[in-house]
Amino acid sequence: MIQVAFYDTKEYDKPSFEQYGSQHGVQFRFLETKLNEDTVELARGCDAVCVFVNDTVNAAVIERLHEYGVKLIALRSAGYNNVDVRAAFGKVHVVHVPAYSPYAVAEHAIALLLTSVRRTHKAYNRTRDFNFSLSGLTGFDLHGKTVGVIGTGKIGRIFIDICRGFGMHVIAYDRFPAQDGGIEYVSLDELFARSDIISLHCPLTEETRHMIDADAIGKMKRGVVIVNTSRGGLVDAEALLEGIKARRVGAACLDVYEEEADVFFEDRSGHILNDDLLSRLISMPNVIVTSHQAFLTAEALDNIAETTVGNILSYFERDGICDNELCYRCGNIERCRKDRKERCF
Ligand code: NAI
Repeated sequence: MIQVAFYDTKEYDKPSFEQYGSQHGVQFRFLETKLNEDTVELARGCDAVCVFVNDTVNAAVIERLHEYGVKLIALRSAGYNNVDVRAAFGKVHVVHVPAYSPYAVAEHAIALLLTSVRRTHKAYNRTRDFNFSLSGLTGFDLHGKTVGVIGTGKIGRIFIDICRGFGMHVIAYDRFPAQDGGIEYVSLDELFARSDIISLHCPLTEETRHMIDADAIGKMKRGVVIVNTSRGGLVDAEALLEGIKARRVGAACLDVYEEEADVFFEDRSGHILNDDLLSRLISMPNVIVTSHQAFLTAEALDNIAETTVGNILSYFERDGICDNELCYRCGNIERCRKDRKERCF
């Protein structure tokens, strides 16, 4: 049996991982705690660790995993900004789930956008209280609006297709524009200047951290709607709050938040929230926050478990070459082609 320490377990993770694990000889040790320097010890004796978006897999943690003989870090997410992949190179292999349901995330971005512009969250609360007033519920048509999409990968492209279905005009920015045409690419500054709605679908890297900051917000149209279902660190949350207070930003739809690690995914009702910035954002009438749930559909959970178990098996039981490996051998992780016939190291 391949032993895997499964960090940051949630109830919804277990059924699919238990099912695929037991079918293929992979035993998951489900741990509620997140992985960090204090909890890495729990991985002793395991062949691999399975981690999620808020586990800390920095150089110190990787060093300890290496020392314990852990061979593989299996991310059960697409994003890998929480793993120091450079530090892992040559020590512990890293695999991720590049696509499990891009539809889940793109559709959630649209759900947030529609909710925000048509105020359905407010209407829902009102009618439950038999308040049938329409006062303050005026929205705007998405049809004919310009949406700026940053990152035209798997999720961004599905988001674009849905927006086109609404009759929106789509412009996009990507560091590596798709070559197959069909998308109007513009510079980031032009995207900021022309978009009524901006939706983020690129990864969090050193380059993209705080790409939405005070300077960027200053270049945007007054009343712009910002949708972030990608990673919290893409947006400088303080600058966003200032933009909202100054009435520059018309609305924000956030499934992710820079400091979400200690708050999201947990029931904090009945507790005093120590994060003043998050409290202030949530208190704004034109901000909608969901707790990193864009991925959470039945289809996505099933795909995540199936692909993760497949990644683990390809490392331990097949030839060790896994299409979903992340490494620095090619020098640029975003461009890594995986066309070789041997392990990365
Ligand atoms: P992908 O890898 O298919 O696409 C990412 C795109 O971003 C690529 O086209 C890439 O060229 C582009 N990009 C890279 N660096 C860039 C830069 N500096 N500026 C602009 N564009 C850049 O990834 P996918 O599957 O579409 O996912 C996008 C992001 O969505 C992930 O990185 C992850 O952070 C986030 N995500 C969020 C989830 C949630 O539950 N909220 C679930 C899954 C993913």
